[in-house]
Amino acid sequence: MGSTPIIAILDFGSQYSELIARRIRETQVYSEVLPYTTPATKLLALGAKGIVLSGGPNSVYDAGAPHCDEQIWHLGIPVLGVCYGMQLMVQALGGKVVKSERGEYGRAPLTIDDPTDLLTNVEDGTTMWMSHGDAVEVLPPGFSRLAHTDNTPYAAIVHHGKRLYGVQFHPEVHHSVGGMAVIRNFVYHICGCEPTWTTDAFIEEAILDIRQQVGDKRVLLALSGGVDSSTLAFLLHRAIGDRLTCVFIDQGFMRKHEPERLLKLFEEQFHIPVEYVNASERFLARLRGVTDPEEKRKRIGYEFIKVFEEESQRLGPFDFLAQGTLYPDVIESAGTNVDPATGKRIAVKIKSHHNVGGLPPNLRFVLVEPLRKLFKDEVRKVGKALGLPDEIVRRQPFPGPGLAIRIIGEVTPERLEMLREADMILRQEINRSGLYNSLWQAFAVLLPTIRTVGVMGDKRTYAHPVVLRFVTSEDGMTADWAKIPYSVLETISNRIVNEVPGINRVVLDITSKPPGTIEWE
Ligand code: XMP
Repeated sequence: MGSTPIIAILDFGSQYSELIARRIRETQVYSEVLPYTTPATKLLALGAKGIVLSGGPNSVYDAGAPHCDEQIWHLGIPVLGVCYGMQLMVQALGGKVVKSERGEYGRAPLTIDDPTDLLTNVEDGTTMWMSHGDAVEVLPPGFSRLAHTDNTPYAAIVHHGKRLYGVQFHPEVHHSVGGMAVIRNFVYHICGCEPTWTTDAFIEEAILDIRQQVGDKRVLLALSGGVDSSTLAFLLHRAIGDRLTCVFIDQGFMRKHEPERLLKLFEEQFHIPVEYVNASERFLARLRGVTDPEEKRKRIGYEFIKVFEEESQRLGPFDFLAQGTLYPDVIESAGTNVDPATGKRIAVKIKSHHNVGGLPPNLRFVLVEPLRKLFKDEVRKVGKALGLPDEIVRRQPFPGPGLAIRIIGEVTPERLEMLREADMILRQEINRSGLYNSLWQAFAVLLPTIRTVGVMGDKRTYAHPVVLRFVTSEDGMTADWAKIPYSVLETISNRIVNEVPGINRVVLDITSKPPGTIEWE
């Protein structure tokens, strides 16, 4: 994943723009999502080897429909218009786009008219994913047809001389069977890119970049134990050795044995020293009597910043703060967080606690963000290549406020203990059953304000229920409740009720997201 030729994606508002970038990167060619307004001169300056125009929700003939810089058609750089992008190209170059009578949504077999060029190695009749209400009626001069479907006379088009291409289908979505072949043809054969965006090349270049940015100065990093901050620590340690200081602030809300395990891994196995700060008493004191979820998050965030500030002064001074910003955060926040005085990006929030308001003005570091070009799956690859074990690389997401937001109501040491024990049993059984990697998250939620009647031995009990939550998801934005085998549920339930004092009932959350959220608070 080193600095390589780039395929620029101009984003016209499609939900798939990011996916196009990910798919292109799967071919080991670097690609970035840029606003549709990006001027042609900037694309030239970036050294773009190809341009993809994404789909979008508009109709090209609407007043105010988004347009790209007209010079893009004349740069001599290959352009691939996808859906709206293709319609835009057709309209701009003298063809005609109309509202189609039936539209076309879902899978459609593609009939290939010209099996060369963009459609090399794409089988005739292959399934492609369609999602359009408009269609091309008349091609612009110089264009010819590469493929059609039953409903769409122009499903793929080309202007050979100008190297302009359009597809009405979405090659990037999983349902388009020949989609990756189309993308490979475009990036390799048409744009002439080599597969140079590899993990090893990325690591090599990131290390050089970090050394150049940091010089002989010192960097502070807040380690959380997740894959992003751990990969970041490995990369920085490789680049600058002991000029990196990792601080691990234990809020007291991690799962059983996690803090010890993390320290052991980093210090004994990886030989990366970690400043361990046990701040659990402070956090618990902050949360005393607090039951409102947002208030809990706010207080945890505030306390985290305070401890972080104290530690950075105790261990510092530092010029740089390492942050595990990923590419999706950069797309969303492009242009923000820039210090007007220096033009450099500055820390206005700490990402592992996205609910945290911001760092105080006297604590302004320059950011080191070596992962900012990467998608999450690429971070995992980099982490693995740097030697991170699977238990971190494949670790399920864990919220910044930790178990505190999985205890409904007040967080007390006793309740934390109860949840920790139940959660550990759940994780042990999910691991034992081999289900861990198939789940996005698996965890327990404590409902301490409710008590229910039960019987154990000859005695009546009156104790707390715990909720089991298992979800599958691609990205955490939507999620399905996971159908865990009854036998596994049975073991978890039996063990929790027998082994965790204070819990006498186990219930299962079978809500998907939406309408539920993954966490309960
Ligand atoms: P929800 O509950 O909103 O969660 O469906 C979506 C994903 O985000 C995680 N999550 C958090 N992560 N701080 C975090 O760092 C938080 O306050 C927080 N709340 C939810 C959640 O675990 C899931 O992966």
